[in-house]
Amino acid sequence: MSSKDGQLFLITGATGHTGAKTVHLLLERGHRVRAFVHREDVRSQALAAAGAEIAVGDLLDFQAVSAAMRGVTNAYFCYPIEPGLVEATVIFAQAAVEANVKSVVNMSQISARREAQSDAARHHWLAERLLDRTNLITTHLRPTFFAEWIEWYFARDEDKGTLRLPMGDARHAPIVGEDQGYVIAAVLENPEAHDRQIYFLHGPKELDHHGIAEEVSRALDIPVTYEPITIDEYTQSLETEVGFPPHLVQHLRNVVIDYHDGVFAGTNNLIEAIGNRTPMTVEEYVRSRKEAFAQTGPYAIAPKPR
Ligand SMILES: NC(=O)c1ccc[n+]([C@@H]2O[C@H](COP(=O)([O-])OP(=O)(O)OC[C@H]3O[C@@H](n4cnc5c(N)ncnc54)[C@H](OP(=O)(O)O)[C@@H]3O)[C@@H](O)[C@H]2O)c1
Repeated sequence: MSSKDGQLFLITGATGHTGAKTVHLLLERGHRVRAFVHREDVRSQALAAAGAEIAVGDLLDFQAVSAAMRGVTNAYFCYPIEPGLVEATVIFAQAAVEANVKSVVNMSQISARREAQSDAARHHWLAERLLDRTNLITTHLRPTFFAEWIEWYFARDEDKGTLRLPMGDARHAPIVGEDQGYVIAAVLENPEAHDRQIYFLHGPKELDHHGIAEEVSRALDIPVTYEPITIDEYTQSLETEVGFPPHLVQHLRNVVIDYHDGVFAGTNNLIEAIGNRTPMTVEEYVRSRKEAFAQTGPYAIAPKPR
């Protein structure tokens, strides 16, 4: 396997929205990549087929993370919205320091604040501060809501579509997970320039959800409408219809309140400036995912009984 300057990149969350693209980009650029995956399945097989080494394990398992860290020079840390983020960060940082890893890119989120009401968002903030206290070259990424949300919550009804979400008229610039992979790969390849930086990542165009629905409509060539619902209706649906666990519902409820307060708003050119990638608009993203949008998304919220 080819490698550059003895570098070995460890990518966690490697089968996820940001990790998988990062693995592929680094491999395409001739690097040696170890993909840390939660389980072996078709997603991990695709990474192996592209040339990644596969390490299977749980980010809460210190021995597994420590073993995967051997020989690693640069690492991406990505933990889902699940309990255990702070513990996983401690494990990751200790394993990285013991293995003499040089740099870490940490996936956080735009709502990460000391005073955040979402437990997960506050834990992201604590995780950032913990990594800042190590001697690792460290870069934090704080994306706004991913464009993938639109697909998850899209309700398809034959030749029309609906987005039922509790976003009011507030705005953000949806950012595609894969576009973030370009920033992650670029920072991992040249970490010194990004040490102790916090990068807020946005898509190219700030929209409210009526505007988002218009872009989805143009891409699919069907009428698509945004139907605002209340935050209570949203969380009740997540609990009873979708079956999300309490930690995730607590997070989503509080970040939606943040969204109304403008915490997720804004746009910038960091995907281009750091990742050398023109980020996808909502319309381009939906066009690239037409098959998925032919169906109702996994978390789509049913209409209210009238
Ligand atoms: N979605 C958004 O709008 C948004 C916005 C801002 C920030 N973020 C941040 O983005 C991060 C998620 O990134 P993503 O969307 O790229 O990931 P993702 O698609 O949610 O995938 C998560 C990955 O982590 C793996 N994983 C889950 N639990 C694990 C564990 N205990 N040990 C090892 N691996 C584990 C999953 O594998 P399996 O699938 O096999 O379990 C999967 O590969 C979160 O930290 C979130 O705060 C998300």
